[in-house]
Amino acid sequence: MITQETIQRIMDTSRIEEVIGDFITLKKAGSNFKGLSPFVNEKTPSFMVSPAKQIFKDFSSGKGGSVVTFLMEHEQFTYPEALRFLAKKYNIEIVETGQSDEEKEKRNTRESLFLVNQFANEYFQDQLWNNETGRSIGLSYFRERGFSDETIKNFQLGYSQDGYEVFTNEALDKGYQLEYLSGVGLTKVDGNRKIDRFRGRVMFPILSHTGRVLGFGGRVLKKDAKTAKYLNSPESEIYHKSKILYGIYQAKQAIAKADECFLVEGYTDVISFNQAGVKNVVASSGTALTVDQILLIKRFTRNITLLYDGDPAGIKASLRGIDLILEQGMNVQTVLFPDGDDPDSFAQKNSQKELEDFLKEEKQNFLRFKAGLLLKDVKDDPLAKAKAAREMVESIALIPDELERTAYIQETSRLLDMAERILFSELGQRRSSKIEKDQKQRKREEQGLKESETMRVVEQVEKPVEDSILYVQERSLASLLLNHGELEFYFGEEEEEDEEGKAKDLPKESICEYILTEIVEDELDFEHPILKSILHHFISVFNEEERVAKAEEFLRGENPERMHLVVDLIADEPELHDWKRKRIYPPDKVAYLRDYTLESVLRFKEKKIGQLIRRIQENFKNGTSTNPDDLGTAQQLTKLKIEINRRLNRIL
Ligand code: CTP
Ligand code: MN
Repeated sequence: MITQETIQRIMDTSRIEEVIGDFITLKKAGSNFKGLSPFVNEKTPSFMVSPAKQIFKDFSSGKGGSVVTFLMEHEQFTYPEALRFLAKKYNIEIVETGQSDEEKEKRNTRESLFLVNQFANEYFQDQLWNNETGRSIGLSYFRERGFSDETIKNFQLGYSQDGYEVFTNEALDKGYQLEYLSGVGLTKVDGNRKIDRFRGRVMFPILSHTGRVLGFGGRVLKKDAKTAKYLNSPESEIYHKSKILYGIYQAKQAIAKADECFLVEGYTDVISFNQAGVKNVVASSGTALTVDQILLIKRFTRNITLLYDGDPAGIKASLRGIDLILEQGMNVQTVLFPDGDDPDSFAQKNSQKELEDFLKEEKQNFLRFKAGLLLKDVKDDPLAKAKAAREMVESIALIPDELERTAYIQETSRLLDMAERILFSELGQRRSSKIEKDQKQRKREEQGLKESETMRVVEQVEKPVEDSILYVQERSLASLLLNHGELEFYFGEEEEEDEEGKAKDLPKESICEYILTEIVEDELDFEHPILKSILHHFISVFNEEERVAKAEEFLRGENPERMHLVVDLIADEPELHDWKRKRIYPPDKVAYLRDYTLESVLRFKEKKIGQLIRRIQENFKNGTSTNPDDLGTAQQLTKLKIEINRRLNRIL
């Protein structure tokens, strides 16, 4: 765990406008910055960054938050990843708690392995561009393959000299340790001998989605070579091939924007597609698709399109991939390339427009794809049809969403010309055995969950009621607390000036203190769960630390829904604008905030009391209550309501 002090340092030091400015072109607009939303395609800027509030708000997509949220949304970092990114940018040392010596050592080892890879990546690129043989052998190979210099640089391609320990000696000279060189598999150690694993190969670095070098793929150049055409880094502490997608670093933005990810087989497919202008593409390089890889894609989109060259072995393997994707609740489509072409060669041969048109035209949903495969050559064989039906339903049963399942069953019925009823009954059987299996799995998992964690899950599921009549009032009060909680006024009813027009020395209190006192003393509370948790934070900070809580305390990202609402409340103050529209502008903004606070508190109370009165009346109507005391209460409340209205009229 990163310590609170470190998080605080990071938040205090980071400048949101600087960080976002590294990703998006921002222009000054008043006290804010504006730019084009990175989350949707747009022509007029609707993306706002406020240096004063240290927040961003994207009015097109509705996203907003702190610098950390931005990194989580834009780079798909996890919370700790975002913090680490900022710490690195601002040279802040990360202090972690609860780390045993063993964990610390593991972390240091990982860092050392990354450093070695980083060095190797720079070295191989330097060799490709600046070394004579590197240029004549490596660079010319890539150029002959049709890769432009820009593409070669974008994918950080390199060259490893054809000598046994050229690279290793260079690395050792620079002070990198053999332990780590062999740890990532760049150097093979055989007794006293050290051997460059990738000697004589062109290099494809494999980057994490955050751009760190996880490992390498190397391709031989000699035509008659007896070794494998492609060689990859071996599994290590930082290279797990089942969790890696080649090209994710270059593709992630495009995937999120297109809301679709193309999945191809290898390095060259990714690179050629990218060069042809189709950038939302990654490869599962050499492994059958895994759940971890699918989940990595799911961070950016729910739509995966599998691309195959038409050889039967590849297609077989792909069927399992389809099921895995469906099981994660994602959509899967397929494109088959014409005989003799793979995505790489097709992209090299055709223009961007031709490639895009081809993908659009050939794309079919997994069902059609599967039906096509299963029914090939056996169109009229009833047994083959039954088998096809069973296998298609098997896939459909994996889809979590019921409506989708129904739609797919209906489509299967059309494709196979088979009664829906029969397919649904097959589906029913599949589902019940699947549900049973899932339940057992969940039980196992739940036993591992601590009680507090289960509670949090329950809390998140509860959806806030935004149509509550109190919502508007609660929102106004929360907005005042967040935006102006520290401003101080005299809230009493006495005239603020004496007869000579001199200001009297009347006791002031902060907007925060006034609102909290009014609410707490009348034993009232908010209803909307998120607004309520905001209010409670203000109350506990006020009681325990005698200070006004700050908006930024909600922007840490632990509670994304709450943070979202807070950003909305501080990005803009709609209630206040309304209020301004309705009347003549007071001489300065601060002056009418006092009246606005009084008004908001009274309106909240009025609505709250109205609600109580209605409840009592209803209880009498439907016989839940016969207690005459309740009637008395209702009368008193009504009086109070009248009094509140009188005071409201005085302000307005
Ligand atoms: N691939 C691999 N391991 C192999 C062969 C292929 O990982 N032994 C992957 C590579 O990522 C490659 C993709 O599959 O980008 C396509 O394979 P292939 O066409 O054989 O590789 P090319 O480098 O394009 O070779 P060629 O010039 O012979 O087409
Ligand atoms: Mn090829």
